Amino acid sequence: DRSIKIAPSILSADFANFGQEIQAIEAQGADWVHVDVMDGHFVPNLTFGPPAVKAFRPHVKTFMDVHLMIAPVDPYIDAYAEAGADMITAHWEAGPHPHRTLQAIKATGKMAGISLNPGTPASVISEVLDLVDMVLVMSVNPGFGGQKFIPSSVEKVRQVRQMIGDREIMIQVDGGVDPVTVGPLVAAGADCFVAGSAVFKGGSVSNPDVYGDNIRAI
Ligand code: DX5
Ligand code: ZN
Repeated sequence: DRSIKIAPSILSADFANFGQEIQAIEAQGADWVHVDVMDGHFVPNLTFGPPAVKAFRPHVKTFMDVHLMIAPVDPYIDAYAEAGADMITAHWEAGPHPHRTLQAIKATGKMAGISLNPGTPASVISEVLDLVDMVLVMSVNPGFGGQKFIPSSVEKVRQVRQMIGDREIMIQVDGGVDPVTVGPLVAAGADCFVAGSAVFKGGSVSNPDVYGDNIRAI
């Protein structure tokens, strides 16, 4: 189903060659580039901050989708907007004022996403739907690539799609997405898929065609 968007996550890329990896996945058909920002506090892993995201920006020709797995998130929104993010997604669980966080993201002129961890019910976002461009349904507990897909995510996507109604809001799914798990998610109403290990496995900057094969397989 080619109406869906594939957003490879560079968390699974070669950390010594981000520029080349970004160019490779875009040349091989990536629709977006998913940038997993982790702070070692909200999630038990640490990746890259605004300076690194700024360095990625010139290599991204498609769309830089920045997933902030950080808490607090509000103090850093402007820095990621200035670094060149096209979409800034914050976690519902990152603090006591997600409505204000989304207002702050929209105020930068960037697209705004809200992300729900597996333990957070879809119903919580009913009061912020008019602020968001995208709902990110986490299908793993955030922090690492290569984890096992959580099957209850399919029903959760269906619930979110039902809540969205006729609003123009994308549903993105992130974690354990591969050729097997993607089908039910499309049927449930998701339209954007993050994939890290499913895209990068078996390939490299010197063997990028594998990335294209992996993207087309999803
Ligand atoms: C996990 C990240 C995901 C992860 C996906 O915290 O938000 O984007 O990189 O990796 P895979 O597709 O391997 O589960
Ligand atoms: Zn992510």
